[in-house]
Amino acid sequence: MEQNVFYIKTFGCQMNERDSEIMAQTLSSHGYHESMNYQEADLVILNTCSIRAKAEQKVLSLLGYLRKAKENKPSMKICVAGCVAQQEGARLIERMPHVDLVIGTQQIYHLENHLQRVDLEGSLVITGLLDNYEIPQFLPEISQLGRVSETLSSSPAPRPCSRFVTIMQGCNNYCTYCVVPYTRGREISRKVNEIIEEVKALAEEGVKEITLLGQNVNSYGKTNTVKETGTKYTFTDLLKEVSQVEGVVRLRFTTSNPKDLTDDLMRSFRDVENLCPQFHLPVQAGSDRILKKMNRKYTVSEYLEKVDKLHEYCPEIALTTDVIVGFPGEEDEDFEATMTLLEKVRFHGSFSFKYSDRSGTRASAFVDKVDEGVKAARLYRFQNRQDEISLERNREYLGKIKEVMIEEWGRDGLRGRTDTNHIVHLNNCTADYFPGDIVAVKILHAGQHSLQGEIEKID
Ligand code: 5AD
Ligand code: SF4
Repeated sequence: MEQNVFYIKTFGCQMNERDSEIMAQTLSSHGYHESMNYQEADLVILNTCSIRAKAEQKVLSLLGYLRKAKENKPSMKICVAGCVAQQEGARLIERMPHVDLVIGTQQIYHLENHLQRVDLEGSLVITGLLDNYEIPQFLPEISQLGRVSETLSSSPAPRPCSRFVTIMQGCNNYCTYCVVPYTRGREISRKVNEIIEEVKALAEEGVKEITLLGQNVNSYGKTNTVKETGTKYTFTDLLKEVSQVEGVVRLRFTTSNPKDLTDDLMRSFRDVENLCPQFHLPVQAGSDRILKKMNRKYTVSEYLEKVDKLHEYCPEIALTTDVIVGFPGEEDEDFEATMTLLEKVRFHGSFSFKYSDRSGTRASAFVDKVDEGVKAARLYRFQNRQDEISLERNREYLGKIKEVMIEEWGRDGLRGRTDTNHIVHLNNCTADYFPGDIVAVKILHAGQHSLQGEIEKID
């Protein structure tokens, strides 16, 4: 039987979401059809994440579950892609013999070829990482736009409005806890003209909001991109160029390492009109001693100086961060320093995690691991305080009129987002609004994780 229905489950970061889109596009152009139901699929792809042990466990348990699905439908092919595939390679097939194909992070572009080989030769593992390769150009197709947001299908007229554009891959920083340099390889920047071409294609299809993606966007241009004049292109140069593409109403980017955050880039929040006043700036820890052990290459006071500058250039900027608690050797006083940092910056929101050992990283060999119970207690305290601060921050919007971009129709009505990246639930929605529309909204309620408001009637 010809295999032509595929299902993709994506774990992890936005980079993986974009990679899943590329795989879907590759398959569609070869006559496959996407299904949102794995049971009717001939090909099930898991695009995986290995950033923390928990993410990896989720993949393994789903694979265990798929063994039964395959028993009921032996023609089903199972492919594991992404970071777990990259790290585990052949070990995955040894543990899970029902897996047919394991492809590394740089192999997604050649998925169709690999599947053909599986048909001829049986199970296959391809996970080589190349140091200096060109990221192939994949212009988006309108049929692929919106595939991630399944909820859009209930909208009167689905109109995807926000997309990710990968500008670079890999990472050269080697933070001691992080698996990314091993799963994504060395840092490679895409060519400026190819990025612009992709953004233009998206804008022409009606996409209003672009998020530029990379593990460390601030070092964009250090590899593989040369300006016509011969000098290197910086991330700020790229940002300005993307901001000028007609139709780009909102521009965002993620993720940044504070050590590479230049004054030029911070000034863009003042000078680039469509750059949204929102910035995800992972700090990881509030103790210099721990930051040093993490190999982050900045101090707390340098971080705070940058936060002050950002506020100076863009007073309404909403800052978010990532924090790891219980890094090896973290004492009570180090954790207290993280709590102090939280009080000083009062982030609008944060993602916080218990340190998780990842094999191959330097920190996994550190001997002074923190007790799991201590980590859990610290995480609980940090998250509780963050929730309180997020609520206080969100209450600052009460009574204000904010511009909200409509995103989708959810179960409880229309949902949109402010330029500061706050989700807004809209009370008085009507079918007259579509994803991508920008409306003026009066904020009436503030919760920890979202706002609620009413679209202002313009008479
Ligand atoms: N343990 C816990 N959290 C981690 N992160 C990255 N590696 C680890 C790890 N080994 C977190 C960092 C990063 C985010 C994407 O995930 O905070 O910024
Ligand atoms: Fe997870 Fe990092 Fe891989 Fe993204 S790049 S999927 S966050 S391990």
